[in-house]
Amino acid sequence: MSTEAATPAETLTERVVHFVDSVIAPIAPAMARGAGPSPKDIASAAGEAGLAGILTPHELGGAGGSHQDFAYFVESVARACASSAVILDVHLSVGTEPILLFGSAEQKHRYLPALARGEMLAGFALTEAAGGSDAAALQTRAERDGNGYRLSGAKTFITSAGAADLYVVIARTGEGTGGISAFLVESAWKGVSTGAPFHKMGLHGSWTGELILDSVHVPVANRLGDEGVGFRVAMAALDSGRVGISAQAVGIAQGALDVVVSTSRLRLGRSGAVDEVTLADLEAQTVASRLLTRHAAALVDSGERVTLEASVAKLYSTDTCVAVAQHAVDMCAPESADEYHPVAIRFRDAKACQIYEGTNQIQRMVIARQLLR
Ligand code: CAA
Repeated sequence: MSTEAATPAETLTERVVHFVDSVIAPIAPAMARGAGPSPKDIASAAGEAGLAGILTPHELGGAGGSHQDFAYFVESVARACASSAVILDVHLSVGTEPILLFGSAEQKHRYLPALARGEMLAGFALTEAAGGSDAAALQTRAERDGNGYRLSGAKTFITSAGAADLYVVIARTGEGTGGISAFLVESAWKGVSTGAPFHKMGLHGSWTGELILDSVHVPVANRLGDEGVGFRVAMAALDSGRVGISAQAVGIAQGALDVVVSTSRLRLGRSGAVDEVTLADLEAQTVASRLLTRHAAALVDSGERVTLEASVAKLYSTDTCVAVAQHAVDMCAPESADEYHPVAIRFRDAKACQIYEGTNQIQRMVIARQLLR
């Protein structure tokens, strides 16, 4: 996969537009069939374009961008290809951001430049089969062992499993939420393995699967933050991570709407009928989702806690993208019955946004708890 390196004069916005037009849009049909470049190749292409470390400061090899830049990037990629968007979103947010927020200077220098160049792809390993949405019920154990820990357990539904080089792994070092710690685990280490990618209903270009940890030795130098703060690391990562999923949902909705508009124009040209009321509602909901996402991203940039606003944005935008994609299928029928029609792809891709980085039932719980505090 080749991409031209960014020219220094390009703004971040221009770089994103160029990257989406020249790299992402051409591979989108193959990604939808699960036959596109690997997640590693996507990260490497983003690295060449100077976009694999948007949130990472310049001095650590990143683009020094804001969360608003990050949201714009994820939305723009998702408008063309939702699979590529989730790979890059996870890499940039829950995969890299915990190092930015909680990493030691040594960890930052060791990992962030390679992640920003796209030479390393990052993943985030919190979810377990037994706990699911109840993240604090995780059972993966990290036992002290000399100058490090031994990690054993199984994580599931891990984005980029089998492709990522580095995982932020959340594991139990004691009891309760205060007995959870975070670790940086390299995929090449002895005892780390992944199963075959899951066969999902959508997002076929993004690999999802299990991460198995079989007595993996992790040096103390790879513990992220103090022992016992891992739940806070995970929750803080998810706060801004949910802004990314919200941006992905906006991109999917906009991508579906683009197809509806072009199809409707063609039909009007042939004296066909168009459901203008629904079309207007889809536009209004998509714009509202984008504004909620930008608002949440701006709050992260201003250093405010964004738990409430991120959940509101994620809830509204992901419900919107599913609704928009569903209407898009209706409005582009009968051609949209084709498995690989652009709105059929988006209809399947949209659903995961309501599920990952906290189901929308969990978002409602978070919102209500924030209001009742
Ligand atoms: N920021 C900082 N700290 C937080 C926090 C936040 N947003 N939310 C909670 N905490 C702290 C609390 O203050 C509390 O600390 P104290 O014990 O010191 O008071 C502690 O964490 C426990 O908080 P709760 O009692 O609220 O925890 P809980 O067990 O009730 O769980 C939950 C809360 C919101 C339901 C949580 O389990 C959750 O978010 N579940 C969803 C999991 C999830 O989103 N998974 C996504 C996987 S990643 C993914 O999907 C990526 C991908 O592939 C695309």
